[in-house]
Amino acid sequence: MSVAQGIPDVEKKVTVAALLFAGAMLALIAYAALRLGISVPGCVTNVKPFTKGELIQVAPGRYEAHVVSKMFAFKPSPLKVPKGSVVDFYLTSADVVHGFYIDGTDVNLMAIPNAVNYAQARFDAPGKYQVICHEFCGLSHQDMVGEIEVTP
Ligand code: CUA
Repeated sequence: MSVAQGIPDVEKKVTVAALLFAGAMLALIAYAALRLGISVPGCVTNVKPFTKGELIQVAPGRYEAHVVSKMFAFKPSPLKVPKGSVVDFYLTSADVVHGFYIDGTDVNLMAIPNAVNYAQARFDAPGKYQVICHEFCGLSHQDMVGEIEVTP
């Protein structure tokens, strides 16, 4: 095709379709952020980084888990809570960046040194939930697994 022939119709159509699609995606992102309040999680700034992992019961059925990630474990683990519990997870790292995904929930955080991340989960089904590091963090990354035990 020479320049004199111009842009073929099909190319124009594909370009318009791609631009419309990109515009639709941007509109959906704006809708999710502005109307539904869904946004990329950020670090919490009102909690100081901590060095000790612990599970604190703050009320009946309500817990705060202060989780420290360190090559190649999560502390404390296993976390034991009764079924129906709501757990506020505060997560940090004592060394490098780790992942923190609780299987069977939508909790998926990054453990970042000198910062704290937050997520809340409710555990209605008893059983054992695996906590998986999903960020490559060293030679035993694949073994970095924690556990949450929800008792009946
Ligand atoms: Cu910790 Cu991978």
